[in-house]
Amino acid sequence: MNNIKIKNLTKKYEKNKSIKVLNDISFIFEPGKTYSIMGPSGSGKSTLLNLISLIDSPTVGSIEISNNKIKSNNKVENDLIRAKKIGIIYQDKNLLSDFTALENVYLPNLLISKEKQKSIELAKKLIKKIGMSSRINHFPNELSGGENQRIAIARAIINNPDIILADEPTGSLDSDNAKLIFKILFNLINKNRIIIFATHNRYFANMADCKITMNNGNINVTNASI
Ligand SMILES: Nc1ncnc2c1ncn2[C@@H]1O[C@H](COP(=O)(O)OP(=O)(O)OP(=O)(O)O)[C@@H](O)[C@H]1O
Ligand SMILES: [Mg+2]
Repeated sequence: MNNIKIKNLTKKYEKNKSIKVLNDISFIFEPGKTYSIMGPSGSGKSTLLNLISLIDSPTVGSIEISNNKIKSNNKVENDLIRAKKIGIIYQDKNLLSDFTALENVYLPNLLISKEKQKSIELAKKLIKKIGMSSRINHFPNELSGGENQRIAIARAIINNPDIILADEPTGSLDSDNAKLIFKILFNLINKNRIIIFATHNRYFANMADCKITMNNGNINVTNASI
């Protein structure tokens, strides 16, 4: 079963004083579904997404992806899991500035396939799908914010990930571009895939099958059908 199980996740940051950002959170994300995460600034949305993307590790608790328990100290293996299974989109600065749009999209695939021509063809196909073919040789600073995000989505999905994580993917966009990005994101739903996005926008959050609201280190879950 291609799900994500988080069990008793607690995340503390020890700076001058210890702060508990996540407090004993357990949840199962199911394939084929979309999940939105809302909550005030500082409530732990990015922290939770960074744990699921295996970029950061919990203070207490565990994460299982497809029934494999993640070993947080095994960076090499976790980097590989992320490369193969997880596509990530941030609010901005997703793309490598010294590489063109096409290069940004095909590079993550080349790392896995080692077949450059195939990776390039696949990247071109994805870029065409999102209507960006006329911009493949542009560098990120030669693209608009919305175009950057569209290329970031193509980059995130080139390895056909089972999991897509988007942390405020439209946080820097106007409403027309934001709608376009969410339209593309929701077109990526398939029965094997889990899509989780954090947003401050209630309208987009309500489009998800399941809404997760974070507050004081805890989550509150509402299903779309309720
Ligand atoms: N590396 C860190 N060291 C110490 N504290 C941190 C660190 N990263 C995050 N925090 C703290 O953890 C809390 C949660 O941060 P997080 O980025 O997860 O919030 P968020 O819900 O994503 O907020 P926003 O909506 O503004 O993006 C904040 O209070 C933040 O100051
Ligand atoms: Mg955040």
